[in-house]
Amino acid sequence: MEHRQKFIAALLAKMTLVEKVGQLNLYNGTWEFTGPVPKDDDSQLKFEHIRQGLVGGMLNVLTVAATREAQKLAVEDSRLGIPLIFGYDVIHGYKTMAPIPLAQSASWDLEVARKCAALAALEASASGIHWTFAPMIDITRDARWGRVMEGPGEDPYLGSAMAKAWVEGFQGSDLGAVNTIAACAKHFAAYGFVEAGRDYNTVDMGSSTLHNIVLPPFKAAAEAGVATFMNGFNELNGVPVTGNRFLQRQLLKELWNWSGFVVSDWASIGEMVTHGFTADLKHAAEKAIGAGCDMDMESKAYLRHLQQLVEEGIVDQKYIDNAVQRILQVKYDLGLFDDPYRYCNQQREKSSILTDTNLALARDAARKSIVLLKNEQHILPLSKLGVSIGVIGCLAQDKDIPLGSWRAQAEANSAKSLLEGMKSLVEPDSIRFAEGYKLTRGDRSFLFELDIIENDETGFDDAVAVAQDSDVVVLAMGEDCWQTGEGRSQVDVGLKGSQQELLKQLLKVNQNIVVVMMSGRALDIAEVAHQVPALLQVWHLGSEAGNAIADVIFGDYNPSGKLPVSFPRHGGQLPIYYNHKNTGRPTTNPHDDGMVFWSHYTDCENDPLYPFGFGLSYSKFEYGESRLSANRLISGGSIKFTATIKNLGPYDGHEVVQLYIRDIVASETRPVKELKAFKKVFLAAGEEEVVSFDIDEEMLSYYLSDGSLVCEPGAFTIMVGGSSAQTQGQELIYEL
Ligand code: NOJ
Repeated sequence: MEHRQKFIAALLAKMTLVEKVGQLNLYNGTWEFTGPVPKDDDSQLKFEHIRQGLVGGMLNVLTVAATREAQKLAVEDSRLGIPLIFGYDVIHGYKTMAPIPLAQSASWDLEVARKCAALAALEASASGIHWTFAPMIDITRDARWGRVMEGPGEDPYLGSAMAKAWVEGFQGSDLGAVNTIAACAKHFAAYGFVEAGRDYNTVDMGSSTLHNIVLPPFKAAAEAGVATFMNGFNELNGVPVTGNRFLQRQLLKELWNWSGFVVSDWASIGEMVTHGFTADLKHAAEKAIGAGCDMDMESKAYLRHLQQLVEEGIVDQKYIDNAVQRILQVKYDLGLFDDPYRYCNQQREKSSILTDTNLALARDAARKSIVLLKNEQHILPLSKLGVSIGVIGCLAQDKDIPLGSWRAQAEANSAKSLLEGMKSLVEPDSIRFAEGYKLTRGDRSFLFELDIIENDETGFDDAVAVAQDSDVVVLAMGEDCWQTGEGRSQVDVGLKGSQQELLKQLLKVNQNIVVVMMSGRALDIAEVAHQVPALLQVWHLGSEAGNAIADVIFGDYNPSGKLPVSFPRHGGQLPIYYNHKNTGRPTTNPHDDGMVFWSHYTDCENDPLYPFGFGLSYSKFEYGESRLSANRLISGGSIKFTATIKNLGPYDGHEVVQLYIRDIVASETRPVKELKAFKKVFLAAGEEEVVSFDIDEEMLSYYLSDGSLVCEPGAFTIMVGGSSAQTQGQELIYEL
């Protein structure tokens, strides 16, 4: 530590103001664009700027060869030879794709999250990358928002646990190791609450929600030592977050005492002009640096204006020094001052990417992320012998969609399809395939891609014939991977094209239908769920998707995932989430008088189709009565809450035991339920276990709107269960 401080202080002392500003400038490379391409983009000029010491880092420069070439310019040609940092969106894998983050969150398995992030770091670092723009830990309650696939879902406790695990996975215990990379907690903050789920839209939110729902995962990431933060595109209550001093300077850097650096989102400094928050780019630079945004991604605002702003006395030089120091610290921790080419090893690039070990890890993570939503008459798992299976739906043979959105350098069409996975586990002849509905591919590039599932019934006859001749049908449904992700919000979260109509036709000839639902969000699947006996939610599971789904379908893996988001009965319920307030006229008519004056819809129930935390197993888990070791908790103490969980069989399996609390009366109203802990336990068939949780003040605390954390005396309900909707509880009194 001491050496780092001395080294950086000595380097800072040698730097001119222009060179300092250069460190705050992050340029996009010329290979890939992950935002609007600037009209004046000029790659030659960027290289020239590296030589002049005007660039601190680059994003989207890929491969060892390319990063080495750019690094050479910085190290050998610039006056001080300060190495560049190379960033890239390595969200759920580099070439080997793990499940999308929302799916990883559905595993409720922190080891899975850690391993997936470590795998992404291993491959990205082998290809010259130092820094990922992940994890995205924006809590969201609105499936219309395309970026829901990129985050942990709707709950701040699960989100915080995942945030910590992802940071630990990417960064390991030593950022200086060659197989770890710097992580970036994004988007600070409240981006997941864009109005009506429309990407980049306005956010207007009360501070109770900000402190209790939005901020906890960011605090967890900061405490886990995440090296960087990214702000965002949205405004929050009238102030764009990129220029938000409260969030970045006061909360993150002062109150949380976090020492990393904050990068802007793509052109988000410049966009403060469009927001109507700053008069011009110079004004935007002033606001952003003052607010605590250390690095400028693709606005060129700092490069063009910071020197002048300092010379004119408008911006205090101490802000620049502090920002540079933070950036140099991360470069130091990555070991770049010891050897700027330490991530440039072509041999490693060849040998450590897409290996069998990496794929095996992706398969294991994928099967643990699958959620069984329905399984009537134990139709699943299917027997591997003596059953004729009709596999239907063009998503079933697709090798690209499972790779998901934000797929970094994954080879197009490199995923195992559902059809391939199933054929590999049974006699291939026992499976017949029909496409059923059709998909039209757009131009496959991240910037424009929008595939379309068509309204086309020409494949129906073949599909019906296959269904008629099969004992059981496995029907793949869902959405294309490019229907989710950045810039891909939707007003309708229902199934597109002719999928639902196809299901209707198939049901006429065969009722044994297992639906495999692929999506990056909670789709509106109510109609499907009511019609079929079995339903698996499989998200976009990555490179090994087909194998992992087949493992579950044939019972080689007993499903254990639980939903990280509520699935609506109807898109009109959005935003929908389990930890809502009671209201004065809550979800069941308090007067039971048949009148309409209570909080409800006249055409739909209030509750979701499938609640947060829900997920079945091939076994049945029974929750015995729960117990508290005492029914009073005195300030400073802790008591035990236990419940007996029994696996009634017939399979061994995992159950995620969830603990919720309700604060009955508080100075600011509290949700009807809040997740406060969970344990994933493994129980052999017939086995039972007493699962115990320590209840302490931290669990009973919440943030008041002024941001202070309080634990107020009074009554609480402590609940346990296998989902947010199936809990049983005990009363607890907390006393000061
Ligand atoms: C914009 C996205 O919002 C952000 O998450 C991403 O890291 C940057 N583009 C860089 O690609």
